[in-house]
Amino acid sequence: MFSTPLGSAALWGYLFALPAVLAGFNSGASNNIAVYWGQNSINKAVGGQQRLATYCANTPVNIIPLAFLNGIKNPTLVNFANAGDNCTTFAGTQLLSCPKIEEDIQTCQSLGKTILLSIGGATYTEGGFSSASEAQTWADTLWAMFGPKQSSSTALRPFGAASVDGFDMDFEATTSNMAPFAARLRSRMDAVSGRKFYLSAAPQCPFPDAAQKEMLEQVAFDFVSVQFYNNYCGATAYPGNFNFDTWDNWARNSAPNKNVKVLLGLPGSPTAAGSGYVSGDQLKQVIQYSRGFPSFGGVMAWDMSQVYGNAGWLDSVVSALGGSLPPVTTTSKNTTPTTTLVTVTRTSAATSTPTGSLVPQWGQCGGIGYTGPTQCQAPYTCQYVSDWWSQCA
Ligand SMILES: *[C@@H]1O[C@H](CO)[C@@H](O)[C@H](O)[C@H]1NC(C)=O
Repeated sequence: MFSTPLGSAALWGYLFALPAVLAGFNSGASNNIAVYWGQNSINKAVGGQQRLATYCANTPVNIIPLAFLNGIKNPTLVNFANAGDNCTTFAGTQLLSCPKIEEDIQTCQSLGKTILLSIGGATYTEGGFSSASEAQTWADTLWAMFGPKQSSSTALRPFGAASVDGFDMDFEATTSNMAPFAARLRSRMDAVSGRKFYLSAAPQCPFPDAAQKEMLEQVAFDFVSVQFYNNYCGATAYPGNFNFDTWDNWARNSAPNKNVKVLLGLPGSPTAAGSGYVSGDQLKQVIQYSRGFPSFGGVMAWDMSQVYGNAGWLDSVVSALGGSLPPVTTTSKNTTPTTTLVTVTRTSAATSTPTGSLVPQWGQCGGIGYTGPTQCQAPYTCQYVSDWWSQCA
């Protein structure tokens, strides 16, 4: 059961229906799927975490944060569990050099996936930086190590010639000077013309997030993957204390980027987190409810090894998100970027969305193969983008 690269038989339903190019993060879509890779949290010798590229070809996952860079300074460390066993270290350091991950990042990017480096994690203990200028210096160092290769830099590069598509902040303990750190990465990324980089964060659901409050108040994020688990406000609490509404309100009314997307973060299996796993009807309902919020951007899951060891769960997520994947943005040499939609053809009976529901801004309301709701929330109207995609705008 765990020996095939794609552990879930249910996944085969859409494997054959997809063209080779799938979507990266799309800020106009409400069906992004982010799944963390790197920690092999299922911790199985057989059927555990496979190499990164395994999860990029023909999968509905469009964002993969690599977990984790768990030491920023003194020393700088990355940890990728069993995938790290395939790395070597740079001479005189404990820093990993990972040619397989280098190769796989490039493969995944060629398939349109957004690959982020997640910084922090539960084992991060440095507490941040002693000053804003120290934070900025380290942001510049990480940019040289993981961003586009700079010809003038001698920085050690764990992923060699590959560069990530941005950074994810996952600090879970008290930290200092994180806002200037994140802001500096943001400005380095935004200074690159012709390529879009992303900044995300994974706060816990109690609002405001204790460890990342400062960053979230001061820095423009593209999306946040809120951990709706291990807490009273998680997905298991829906409809009671589940607080997606609080995060939607933050996103639209006080976040520095008013178009920041909120992803519904869920454990990928019953054993992936301390508590908070949802499946079946509860999963369907909590996604359905969350989709009604304008800032809803899709689902995040922890982690890849658990998701792929949990047959059928990812399929349920795709189904609850409307059974289609985000639009693909492809760029070829002599043309301007174009957007097309990949439609998932399902082998099992697709669950139909209740006809009474209204599509939020930027949500899909029409297109070939689309069977979901077609009425937009006021004041938006359903607008044609392509034969494959109409959206509420
Ligand atoms: C590690 O390397 C071996 C040998 O090339 C390969 O079969 C395996 O898939 C790799 N595992 C990971 C997690 O990268």
